Amino acid sequence: MDADRLVLLEPSGRKHLVALDRDTVQVPRVGVVRADALRASVGRRWTVGGRSFLVLTPSIRDVVGTIRRKAQIVGPKDAASLVWNCDLKAGDFVVEVGTGSGALTLALAHAVGPAGRVVTYDVRPDFLDVAKSNLSAAGLDGRVQFKVGDARVGIPDRDADAVIVDVPDPWEAVGTAAKALRPCGHFASFSPNVEQVNRTVAVLRTATFVEIRTVEIIERGIEARDSGTHPSFAPLGHTGYLTFARHVLETI
Ligand SMILES: C[S@@+](CC[C@H](N)C(=O)[O-])C[C@H]1O[C@@H](n2cnc3c(N)ncnc32)[C@H](O)[C@@H]1O
Repeated sequence: MDADRLVLLEPSGRKHLVALDRDTVQVPRVGVVRADALRASVGRRWTVGGRSFLVLTPSIRDVVGTIRRKAQIVGPKDAASLVWNCDLKAGDFVVEVGTGSGALTLALAHAVGPAGRVVTYDVRPDFLDVAKSNLSAAGLDGRVQFKVGDARVGIPDRDADAVIVDVPDPWEAVGTAAKALRPCGHFASFSPNVEQVNRTVAVLRTATFVEIRTVEIIERGIEARDSGTHPSFAPLGHTGYLTFARHVLETI
């Protein structure tokens, strides 16, 4: 899925995402190497200047982990849940409100595939520029339209399979989403605070939405060692709450 880029994995676990857009590439802390030598080494150990790397193709996780950030991003565990719970698949049409740095846009563009389409809105043109360059670096910008737009004012799109909202006041986007969604299309919002969830759910309940539910995804790493396997001691940090609903034409 990626543009011409590879990941160099150090024995320490540290990763470097390198673009192979020239004949020679600058590899951090190593120097200049030939791009075709790296391409020929995918899946293999590659040694230069006494240092060894594994050469890997980038995963969506690698790509999101290295994007230029302008705002708080939606990370992999929440992005995966949004894709699954909105039933996104190849060929779908998704509207995103609150582009930010485009981290979630990357996951959405990845999910809908080359036959799908994402239209993403932000009130900040400068954020849209950053997101666009992040999508372009990943080779996914062809599936995405970047538009200046305000969820509170409304958006012109119709018949979307899903509308996904990551703005400070998602309840303001519910009416806009109802107009943009096809019948039975999916609404989702990502919110760090429970007060945002309460207001969004209250508005969803008064509109033509069903199957309204909110979840928090908690991902806990497991450290597998010969001396004993146990959950990671790293604190379980909070990211946000995910609210889902489906748009219908009539309620029960
Ligand atoms: C937290 S960021 C989104 C991050 C993004 N989901 C990501 O993964 O990179 C929220 C974004 O919403 C935008 N925003 C705020 N209010 C908005 C509105 N009413 N309509 C559209 N965008 C809005 C902000 O400019 C900001 O870029």
